[in-house]
Amino acid sequence: MELFDTDYEDARARHKKLVREIHHHDRLYHTEDAPEISDADYDQLRKELDEIEAKYPDLISSDSPSQKVGGAIKDGFSKITHAVPMLSLGNAFNVDDVQDFIERVQRFLNTSTPVEIFAEQKIDGSSCSLRYENRKLVSAATRGDGTVGEDITANMKTLDNVPHILPSDAPDTVEVRGEVYMPGKSFEALNKSQAEKGGKIFANPRNAAAGSLRQLDSSITAARNLKFFGYALGDLSAPIADTQMGIRDKLSNWGFDVPSPVHVATDVKGLINYYEEVMKLRPDLEYDIDGIVYKVNDLSLQNRLGFVSRAPRWAIAHKFPAEQAITTLHAISIQVGRTGALTPVAELEPITIGGVVVSRATLHNEDEIARKDIRVGDKVKIERAGDVIPKITESIDHAAGSKPFEFPTQCPVCGSDAIREEDEAVRRCTGGLICDAQAVERLKHFVSKNAFDIEGMGDKVIKQFWEEGLIKSPADIFTLRDHDRNSLTPLRLKEGWGDQSVQKLWDAIEAKREIALDRFIYALGIRQVGQATAKRLASVYGSLQNLRAKANYDDLIEIEDIGPAVATDIMAFLNEDHNKNVLDALLNQLTILDYVAPQTTESAFTGKTVVLTGTLSSMGRAEAKAKLETLGAKISGSVSSKTDYVIAGADAGSKLKKAQDLSVTVLSEDEFIEKT
Ligand code: IVH
Repeated sequence: MELFDTDYEDARARHKKLVREIHHHDRLYHTEDAPEISDADYDQLRKELDEIEAKYPDLISSDSPSQKVGGAIKDGFSKITHAVPMLSLGNAFNVDDVQDFIERVQRFLNTSTPVEIFAEQKIDGSSCSLRYENRKLVSAATRGDGTVGEDITANMKTLDNVPHILPSDAPDTVEVRGEVYMPGKSFEALNKSQAEKGGKIFANPRNAAAGSLRQLDSSITAARNLKFFGYALGDLSAPIADTQMGIRDKLSNWGFDVPSPVHVATDVKGLINYYEEVMKLRPDLEYDIDGIVYKVNDLSLQNRLGFVSRAPRWAIAHKFPAEQAITTLHAISIQVGRTGALTPVAELEPITIGGVVVSRATLHNEDEIARKDIRVGDKVKIERAGDVIPKITESIDHAAGSKPFEFPTQCPVCGSDAIREEDEAVRRCTGGLICDAQAVERLKHFVSKNAFDIEGMGDKVIKQFWEEGLIKSPADIFTLRDHDRNSLTPLRLKEGWGDQSVQKLWDAIEAKREIALDRFIYALGIRQVGQATAKRLASVYGSLQNLRAKANYDDLIEIEDIGPAVATDIMAFLNEDHNKNVLDALLNQLTILDYVAPQTTESAFTGKTVVLTGTLSSMGRAEAKAKLETLGAKISGSVSSKTDYVIAGADAGSKLKKAQDLSVTVLSEDEFIEKT
């Protein structure tokens, strides 16, 4: 590859962005059961990633989503390592993709004889593996990351269509894999009762199923009417069938529900006929399906075909297209998220798409609205992919006299400026400390461990105080006690509190009336200002007054590790009037200690550039770094002619070699310690 191949550079940048985006959506989907984009959009991102990686295999990084399946593990459940990994499926989006699949199979098997393909509905639920030992159900696990899942045995035992015992013809060890789903009616009833209770509303039956399965209290799962369909096997001590159809019959005989109808065909025409037939049945099914799975029917052929990275060669998922409809866009409202992101939402004339009434749709961001020239009053095309929030794909017709939509530059919740950074699609509210939409998250950050670290003021307490109107802004924390004194319902009389716990809280707050400048800056939760940047700002400006009076964009970007985006965020924060008020109010309550540079001890390392490499035996790398810093050294990550010392521990590699090549002084661990 050429050194400066712009296509490659573009692909690399796009790949990096896709990896980040896909990880973000994976986390929302798998760990939080709260996806932001439709499956179709997600698949599109994955497809693009796969295409880039196929073209430039050296971009495949170990953190690429192509290298893992499913989601990370949510805390709270014990883990189960799958005896046989739970993989995912490759996707087909059209007839050509299905034809390609059949041809790939034949090519791999080096045969021109037609291969039987078993076709079955793709259930849109949450996958699960049930393990039976000596015909007794012993464990149940979620897919997790494909290798390790969550132990949901107690929860799965509450499902009334999961057999606890298998008949005598079942082998000693068998894992039955399938999908847990929530029937449409149960989903509607659940959301209705959640709304009445003020509980979480689920976007679709799949999220409801996943959320209901991951309950630490299995009586909640039991009340949610979940069902299970069996469709595959995992670990197995003896074969139970020769074909996929045989597996299905066996599972059905053992008492499992299996999806119906199914079909076996040897050509693409037969498969597509079945696909279209099922699509017609789809609105009347009591569960959601999002496509058809085609599997090579003969298990010995499946065995020969094997797997590629995360998916079997012998199966593919043929996804259904998103359903569409046309309606009128009445208004565009702006929602403000917990991170301050302004998200436009389309308010629509309600319309039924695929059996579901849709009255709102996402518009993603302001560029999307401008690009598609979507205006209030337009006839718009809506797409619903059987999941998450429907989206507007295009404007069909502008209303007479309509004007392009003007995206607000002020936050609709708190009135603060909403700014957009270069390279960012999202406009964000800068009033983080006072904006109701963000307040709770900001307050949690303000009192968190590396910020004010107020003991006894955890997430739950902050939420309670905020909801009761006791703390709206950070300074309220420090006036809480005075207000409580005059309150008719003081804290000590409230549920969960008593004299002692309240006194402890007052003491914890009092203890934090003095705070170091860097911690204070970090506590403000300025976007992109983490602990390291807060420390730098503290060391450069010395005091809060100085920072407020003197910081400007040009100076900020000169500071190490602060680039244009971070400088923009810092200035936006400092210039925002609401934030100025918050800072003034805090200054009335607090003493912010000016920055004191760590004491450096004059030594052989003072003012020298030092590189650490290899493993030290007497201390960790972080400790060695800290030690050198207090001795006035500047630590660098790479060796150059400007390096004064390289400290080489055991197994030092290329950096040591480079130091030798450049004749930089190399110190052993003992020599380093001697000089300190
Ligand atoms: S067979 C090696 N059959 O879809 C994987 N999977 O998007 C064999 N799924 O991970 C899976 N319905 O959780 C199979 N009838 C069906 C299915 C099905 C839903 C799920 C499964 C898979 C995911 C891929």
